[in-house]
Amino acid sequence: MSTAQRLHAVTAAREASPNLDPADWPATRAQAHAMLDDMLDYIRDIRTRPVWQPIPAQARAQFRDALPDAPQDLADVHGEFMQFILPYAAGNVHPGFMGWVHGGGTGEGMLAEMLAAGLNANLGGRDHMPIEVERQVIHWMRELFAFPESASGLFVTGTSMANLLSVLVARHARLGRAVRRKGVGAGLRGYAAVTAHRCIGQAFDLAGLGTNALGLVPVDGDFRIDIAALERAIRRDRDAGMMPFMLVGTAGTVDTGAIDDLAALAALARREGLWFHVDGAFGALGMLSDRIAPSLKGIEQADSIAFDFHKWGQVPYDAGFFLVRDGKAHRDTFANPAAYLRREARGLAGGEHWPCDFGPDLSRGFRALKTWFTIKAHGRARLGEMIERSCDLARRLEARILAEPRLELLTRTELNIVCFRYRAADEVNAAIVGDLQESGIAAPSTTIINGKLAIRAALVNHRTEMRDLEAMLKAVLEFGVRREQKLRAIP
Ligand SMILES: Cc1ncc(COP(=O)(O)O)c(C=O)c1O
Repeated sequence: MSTAQRLHAVTAAREASPNLDPADWPATRAQAHAMLDDMLDYIRDIRTRPVWQPIPAQARAQFRDALPDAPQDLADVHGEFMQFILPYAAGNVHPGFMGWVHGGGTGEGMLAEMLAAGLNANLGGRDHMPIEVERQVIHWMRELFAFPESASGLFVTGTSMANLLSVLVARHARLGRAVRRKGVGAGLRGYAAVTAHRCIGQAFDLAGLGTNALGLVPVDGDFRIDIAALERAIRRDRDAGMMPFMLVGTAGTVDTGAIDDLAALAALARREGLWFHVDGAFGALGMLSDRIAPSLKGIEQADSIAFDFHKWGQVPYDAGFFLVRDGKAHRDTFANPAAYLRREARGLAGGEHWPCDFGPDLSRGFRALKTWFTIKAHGRARLGEMIERSCDLARRLEARILAEPRLELLTRTELNIVCFRYRAADEVNAAIVGDLQESGIAAPSTTIINGKLAIRAALVNHRTEMRDLEAMLKAVLEFGVRREQKLRAIP
């Protein structure tokens, strides 16, 4: 059948039944299987592709069309996906992807996304099994972080959002319910290391406290928050009449993977009466490994923890999570009764506490399902081993860098992030990273360490192996020589 004939048949069938379900179920089923096969092939054969490739202008131009009026055949839309979208993804499924902190995803997570979309579940509230799946994951996380039964949890987009919620809960815990009506008076003061993720400052901004209300504390030689400097800052602020209310520790900083001394921070927060929040965006799930968990000691004393299943947990994007020790304080921050959200003793509107009582979202997707599938399909031990393997690879990469005189290691590797540079000017290193990405061999990112531009390899993807790191290093050296020559050739 030609495309025109197929479109004609589809349009005729649609006219017979005006809803949006397939007009031709057998054809849609065959197409669906082909789409599934394509994505399974994509994951299986990912090594044969470049990590990333620049988007050609002609492909980009495909996405400047006017709003389509007429229906298009599903097979054709899928064809466009295969031709113009799939080849130009960021590449974080690929083992050579080591930029920023991106998870690699799993086949199980992908399939669960499809099931969740089929159910089209809205997890804002009401009494249905998807909510129980989210509660199951909350229960597992309470267990993982040794939080009490009264602790609450919530899936959110990512750690940026979870960190924002933490500031709101801490603000509410310090100022009481009135803050929700009257807003924030001046004087609240929170603390985090200068190396904290930028979303912490943004959370202070969005919470109406202003970024100036976040005291940024210097770090020690290992990039961990300087506890003595923190104590001095708190004392200084109290003397100035300010109201310290929150302390943010990081379990795995974005730049170097450093872990603040969480036990010391917990003790200090207790002494000072501060809400102790841990930004564990990727590092918190180190708790899945018996070997790494001891370096996170103190996290179990946090008032709240923010982390992502979509990073080291390998759950497909997005799956951020927020865990709060005092579930009541969490609920009091957000719960907002409304007649149309009345809870009933029976029927679909049953259940006293709904997820919409724990955050700003009323409509919420079923992020819990892909997380539940991933955890069940692989189990804690295997996920923990995968995390350990990333750290082992980071150590091996560190050793290779130390053994290569043309490379300089810029930080001690604590977890899975290795920061190094080719011994040349910053512009050469920036060019090397651009060359690496455009070559499709590997995709590290950059950051600044002690004023120097660093090549940053964040080993998060469960598919990454030593051969990927060897290929990246070989290319760094080759591109480095070439870039230096080019620089010298410029008069
Ligand atoms: C330490 C830290 N905090 C927060 C974030 C932000 O997390 P998300 O991108 O899930 O919002 C990141 C992201 O890499 C991070 O590493």
